Amino acid sequence: CLSERAQNLLKVMTIEEKIGQLHQAAGGRSKNLNSKLTPEELDKVRRGEVGSYLHVAGAKALGELQKVATEESKHGIPLLFAMDVVHGYRTIFPVPIAMASTWDTEQWHTASRIAAQEATAAGLHWTFAPMVDIARDPRWGRIVEGAGADPYLGSRMAAAQVEGFQNNDLSASDTLLATTKHLGVYGAPTGGRDYGSSDVSERTLNEVYLPPFYAANVSGSGSYMTAFNDIGGIPSTANEEIVDGILREDWGFCGLVVSDWNAIHELINHGVAKDRPAAAALALKAGVDMDMTSAVYKEDLVKAIENDPSLMMDLDLAAGRVITVKEQLGLFDNAAKYHDEAREKAQMLTPASREAARIAAEKSAVLLKNDNNAFPIASGPQKIAVLGALATDSLTQLGSWRGRGDANDVVSILDGLKTHAPEGIDISYSETAENISDFTENADRILLVIGEDYDLSGEARSRSDIELPADQTALFKAAIETGKPVSVILVTGRALAIPEIDQDADAILNIWMGGVEAGNAVANLVYGTSAPAGRLPISFPRKTGQAPLTYSEYPSGRPADPDLSNDSNRFIDLPITPLYPFGHGLSYSTFEYSNLSAAQTEISADGVISLSVTVTNTGDITADEVVQLYMRDPVAFVARPQIQLRGFKRVTLEPDQSATVTFELSPQQAAIYKGRNDWKVESGDLEFFIGGSSADLKSSQIINILNNADSKAPAA
Ligand code: IFM
Repeated sequence: CLSERAQNLLKVMTIEEKIGQLHQAAGGRSKNLNSKLTPEELDKVRRGEVGSYLHVAGAKALGELQKVATEESKHGIPLLFAMDVVHGYRTIFPVPIAMASTWDTEQWHTASRIAAQEATAAGLHWTFAPMVDIARDPRWGRIVEGAGADPYLGSRMAAAQVEGFQNNDLSASDTLLATTKHLGVYGAPTGGRDYGSSDVSERTLNEVYLPPFYAANVSGSGSYMTAFNDIGGIPSTANEEIVDGILREDWGFCGLVVSDWNAIHELINHGVAKDRPAAAALALKAGVDMDMTSAVYKEDLVKAIENDPSLMMDLDLAAGRVITVKEQLGLFDNAAKYHDEAREKAQMLTPASREAARIAAEKSAVLLKNDNNAFPIASGPQKIAVLGALATDSLTQLGSWRGRGDANDVVSILDGLKTHAPEGIDISYSETAENISDFTENADRILLVIGEDYDLSGEARSRSDIELPADQTALFKAAIETGKPVSVILVTGRALAIPEIDQDADAILNIWMGGVEAGNAVANLVYGTSAPAGRLPISFPRKTGQAPLTYSEYPSGRPADPDLSNDSNRFIDLPITPLYPFGHGLSYSTFEYSNLSAAQTEISADGVISLSVTVTNTGDITADEVVQLYMRDPVAFVARPQIQLRGFKRVTLEPDQSATVTFELSPQQAAIYKGRNDWKVESGDLEFFIGGSSADLKSSQIINILNNADSKAPAA
């Protein structure tokens, strides 16, 4: 895996210089970039003590820093500049969970391309994205950063982001090295509390949590980040089996692995290392190449090598991998290509990028409820009372990890509604419920903007109660008490438990956190210029106590039946079904499914399953439908999930228009984990279902797999 240049450099570098390549320093705090790039820091670069900086930006500032590394250090090895460019650099797209709600991989591809173009113009080489952690517990605050609950959807979204960031050519001046994170199982912490232990079974690890990491590798992800937490007592930063074993050996990954912030030092808190040299040894042996900010490698690896000289080989590999990635990025040949100030100026927030962000925001919105066609707002004179501080809270629309996003760039919901109001629509606005009867007295309806602000989801933002915050519930109740029809625009970074809103509001349009174009997108959807078709990538529970939850559970020996009074797999005080299921999302139009058919119903395990269905728009407006394919394996050597997503296609149909949607998939999609490098497709029947939601499957088809087949890996 090491380039020739890396191998040659390793022959002439000292131990300290090699360790320098493994050290990633913070150039600033997240909101105060570059602030730590002091003259003393530059001396460290001259001495070859730093391999990379994170939380830095700017074509000029980074160009000057790079010159110090390439022209004034002994070996002239360039630095890697990194940042969390997650859902945009300056043009901020909807938050990742919203992007997944588009069920349209092209949206993520485009967003990641634009993010890469902007970030590289600002001197960056490396992003800490995509976050591909599957998450089924909305108490976990970082659920906002991923694709939700499903490994298949998550895998497709992971691949689209890696391909968008890297564009299959790391050496180009407008591509970013992607970091697929957080390797292990970061998304299932006990109680939903961030950084907590994820104690999943080996099967769940391999069949649910690892597939998006695998898909990202197939798409060429150049780097991975290990998770802060442990799986069953093994912190991922010290997990040799996952990092060096599964990722490197089994999947053939050649790139760079970075720890999370201070995570190598935190191996001491985990109780697996007695001191920093021991922590250094564990992480390096596991295959973690770069130490993000803890300086454990920098300060304590020499001691660790004295204790265990065999680590020298691991050090060479790690330093060689860092140098090889720098070479792949073209930094040895032309580091200056990232430091063109004219390009930096021209690249940011272009009209085309804004337009892409608007389209993504429109496509990501999920219409959760729409009684009596409350949306779109009918034309003709109407007085609309817009209520709620989130209608003007621009920062919230940027969400968590907003790169260099600026709240001033955001079209707020209120501004969008006002700017695009059709003739005859009169908008008034109040932030609070103070004097609500006077405020709404002449209104025909209330448009209530409620939910969570940006600071309630994201890293270290786990909540024990995923109902609306108290002030938001109070606002909702006040709105309902006016007796006016209330339609809700929901702003959130997680699935929420909102049964009262479901009960009392006419309509709920979940826009998540919609990025810089949130207001324009909301206006287009609310006024009916476009029709919503986003689908939930995670179920919305009825109560916090339902979490974690998934549509894809194993069957119980005593299946839940709400009508049974005997003991079954249910609550005594709550239905087991979610409030809104995985894949749910309404439209302004209606769709009919017909003619589900299979090209062949008997397939060998190395064949192709081909299923087609006709979808017809039976409404009177053009709209998108997300056609979803689910699979069930009724009998196998281990219990299989009740249903599993195995395909999706978002199609646009005019009124009365029909489309034939075809899914082609390998029987490998039914492979079952048996052990490391050992997956099995079993002969026998598979049942496929097609519909517009996991809870609304219209028809089914049996496919018979003719033979068993073994393989080393799951389907990508
Ligand atoms: O990339 C992030 C990671 O997801 C959480 N800890 C900090 C890193 C760098 O900012």
